[in-house]
Amino acid sequence: DTKAIILVGGPSRGTRFRPLSLDVPKPLFDVAGHPIIWHCLTAIAKVPSIQEVCMIGYYDESVFKDFIKEAATEFPNLPIKYLREYQALGTAGGLYHFRDAILKGRPERIFVLNSDVCCSFPLNDMAKLFDDKDAEAVILGTRVSQEAATNFGCIVSDQHSRRVLHYVEKPESQISNLINCGVYLFSVDAIFPSIRSAIKRRTDRPRLVSYPSSENLESSFMADEDEERKNEVIRLEQDILSDLADSKQFFVHETKDFWRQIKTAGSAVPANALYLQQAQQSGSRELAKPSPNLIPPVFIHPSAQVDPTAKLGPNVSIGPRAVIGAGARVKESIVLEDAEIKHDACVLYSIVGWNSRVGAWARVEGTPTPVTSHSTSIVKNGVKVQSITILGKECGVGDEVRVQNCVCLPFKELKRDVSNEVIM
Ligand code: GDD
Ligand code: GTP
Repeated sequence: DTKAIILVGGPSRGTRFRPLSLDVPKPLFDVAGHPIIWHCLTAIAKVPSIQEVCMIGYYDESVFKDFIKEAATEFPNLPIKYLREYQALGTAGGLYHFRDAILKGRPERIFVLNSDVCCSFPLNDMAKLFDDKDAEAVILGTRVSQEAATNFGCIVSDQHSRRVLHYVEKPESQISNLINCGVYLFSVDAIFPSIRSAIKRRTDRPRLVSYPSSENLESSFMADEDEERKNEVIRLEQDILSDLADSKQFFVHETKDFWRQIKTAGSAVPANALYLQQAQQSGSRELAKPSPNLIPPVFIHPSAQVDPTAKLGPNVSIGPRAVIGAGARVKESIVLEDAEIKHDACVLYSIVGWNSRVGAWARVEGTPTPVTSHSTSIVKNGVKVQSITILGKECGVGDEVRVQNCVCLPFKELKRDVSNEVIM
């Protein structure tokens, strides 16, 4: 039997997801009509041997209550529980802290999924490789450009046997363009002992003693306390994976399917596009029917109101109770709950926040980035700006106003044209 663990993090994380994470925890943000972690569950539900899903994080218990309730009706054969860390314990620390709960029911192996990635989660393929190789661990890998690779965990593997030879988390220089997708399958007999020895290595290591000078005594003590807390953090990437590579039974499944990280708020736009395209390919009936004014794939929530003369798509999601006026144009964008796009407005490569209003003939637009790019910032006139325009919750864009490559914090009224700015 198998269990699946989803690492959901906590409120101190996902800061790059602002301003959207100010109003909803990142794992629950809707892309392609469903919360980010709902897409993980859909993939997990396709693995026959999975007996339970544990979400591990340090958000308050109440945060996932409704989600778990809804998931229970959507995935009746998949018991889901939320295990809350008392503080951030790191990607492996949480697993170790909750080992009794995880090992209950005697699973032989566990899938571990980062919640902030968008991918096809080819879990069955990973399980097959695991069986074929009699593995202790399988990691999901994907190829990215050389320049992008160092932002991720890098894997050096044997082409032929697919064995992981080296693993380096976010290396300073390029070592491989095969990167860690943040999806793993571990045998419980390998992962827990490995975490235990990482903890042991740490406690055995002699502690560094610092001698604070008298004038900054107080701040040094604070730093010491911080250090102490950090010491409890165990990270899969830095503390465990290179260890597993030494064990020789660690393999990589290289996916050719889509994969993206969901870090910045803007990265929700490519994630939305990729999940909509996946839904389209699988013939999902949730998507809107194509027509001259509707370029697929498009998701329209049943409670949304879209004028038949508005033109939508491709890669557009329209949230609950949103209103799209006559002659409006929406493309490569997410329009959230209760937002209103007035007649003849144009929304391109943007996210329109909850309850926001875009005036008549207004233009809200970002800039397309190449599919191969794993970044959502671009350089314009020598400055780095977000390629996706984001209106936070309850923003207003006046009639005929143009907003270009801006991130706009909640409750702002934009009455004049703006570009390349963060509006606070
Ligand atoms: N429960 C819990 N507790 N979850 C955590 C904690 C923690 O203390 N810290 C991080 N997470 C969760 C995050 O919510 C996220 O889903 C995942 O663990 C990884 O987050 P980060 O630690 O921020 O790592 P990263 O995203 O910069 O890099 C990781 O993912 C990349 C792929 O997206 C690494 O695994 C890289 O090697 C990898 O390439
Ligand atoms: P479509 O025929 O609408 O697909 O336009 P296009 O192929 O010329 O361009 P694309 O779809 O890439 O981009 C959307 C288009 O909408 C842009 O050309 C915009 O100029 C146009 N547009 C701009 N403002 C408005 C508006 O207020 N209403 C409508 N309907 N379209 C607008």
